[in-house]
Amino acid sequence: MSTSTMARGRANRWWDHVTPAPKDPINSVTEAFLADPCPYKINLGVGAYRDDEGKPIVLQCVREAQAKIESSNFLESNSTAVSSKLVEESAKLVYGEDSDVIKEGRFAGVPALSGTGACHLFAELQRRLYPDSRIYLPDPTWSNHHNIWRDAHVAKKTFRYYHPDSKGLDFMALMDDIKNAPDGSFFLLHPCAHNPTGVDPSYEQWKEISSLFKVKNHFPFFDMAYQGFASGDLERDARAIRIFLEDGHLIGCAQSFAKNMGLYGHRVGCLSVLCDDKTQAVAIKSQLQQIARTMYGSPPIHGILLVSKILSDPDIKATWLKEVKVMATRVRRMRAALRDSLEKLGSSLDWQHITNQVGMFCFSGLTPDEVDRLAKEFHIYMTYDGRISMAGVTTKNVDYLANAIHEVTASDQDAKILCNLSA
Ligand SMILES: Cc1ncc(COP(=O)(O)O)c(C=O)c1O
Repeated sequence: MSTSTMARGRANRWWDHVTPAPKDPINSVTEAFLADPCPYKINLGVGAYRDDEGKPIVLQCVREAQAKIESSNFLESNSTAVSSKLVEESAKLVYGEDSDVIKEGRFAGVPALSGTGACHLFAELQRRLYPDSRIYLPDPTWSNHHNIWRDAHVAKKTFRYYHPDSKGLDFMALMDDIKNAPDGSFFLLHPCAHNPTGVDPSYEQWKEISSLFKVKNHFPFFDMAYQGFASGDLERDARAIRIFLEDGHLIGCAQSFAKNMGLYGHRVGCLSVLCDDKTQAVAIKSQLQQIARTMYGSPPIHGILLVSKILSDPDIKATWLKEVKVMATRVRRMRAALRDSLEKLGSSLDWQHITNQVGMFCFSGLTPDEVDRLAKEFHIYMTYDGRISMAGVTTKNVDYLANAIHEVTASDQDAKILCNLSA
């Protein structure tokens, strides 16, 4: 009897009601890219660093750390000592090398399955401790934030962040939404290199945001997936968080080492929650450990050892800091090259935002139709919101990309010219 005949004879058809889940927008881009046989196709979908040849790289700091941890026992599960080292070293990047928070043990930290896992742990904690609360997410934000908080059964609301006309920050609207949220709300903030817009508040704007959070008694949860990618300097990219710390906020912070160490496959991250004292920190940490235990027990050890070694060995850390700068600089160079190329082509549209925005992404302003044409006519792939992963732009493909963008925006350019003529 075939298996399908056997299944038909069964009383209960367990999975008949199940339909496929909607595709993840970023995975869909990758699938379309992989299915395209064109030799000069370009993938601008994935937020993963690529070198100027368009290739993924293993950082020198990772090679050096790997050599030093070679003799570790990767078959044992994580010990407390291994986890604590990762947490302590990661916390220094958030709270500062000599921070009292760390000396006094005033934070609860746990290793997490990269940035995604860290966000998920926090969402679960929020639901557990504040079941009636909601999370305020920037509009737009990394699409998975919506999924994570939805699956943790935490209510969501968005706050205004991006202004499509200026392709910059809608600061007034953002402040209004913070002001109008009920006192004591949870807000998710990207401290640097906002995904997908590449638009970060200025230092002064962060100060105002922090002051307003104080007045409103809101809780800031920072998702820091790209530390180093905005400015090339990890300390500078932590500035927003440091402002909140100086203002005396308690914060949460998700960290990822996927991008800034190029360790996507190892899934190494950290979640820390700042508390008033050590007693609270012990309690929160035990809650987080319990949540993690039901989800995956303990995280894989290899990546944790790699990251801990990079962060704790002064020579390897120095190499890493230099490599972060190199990656950020290359991305910045590509921003300048893309804008330059579009301007040289005589585009009448304003492309300043390409260089004003920071980090891995450029929120280009391209419409879904234009994105579609880029894929169909030019074999260039990006998400439908027009987000360009600048890491996929190289010296070799930048002019081709600019030319394709110039072509698909021709009607926008005509409209702008007509508009200027009639003004
Ligand atoms: C804002 C933001 N948070 C978290 C993540 C998840 O990163 P990870 O790959 O470390 O899980 C991403 C990845 O794209 C992101 O853009």
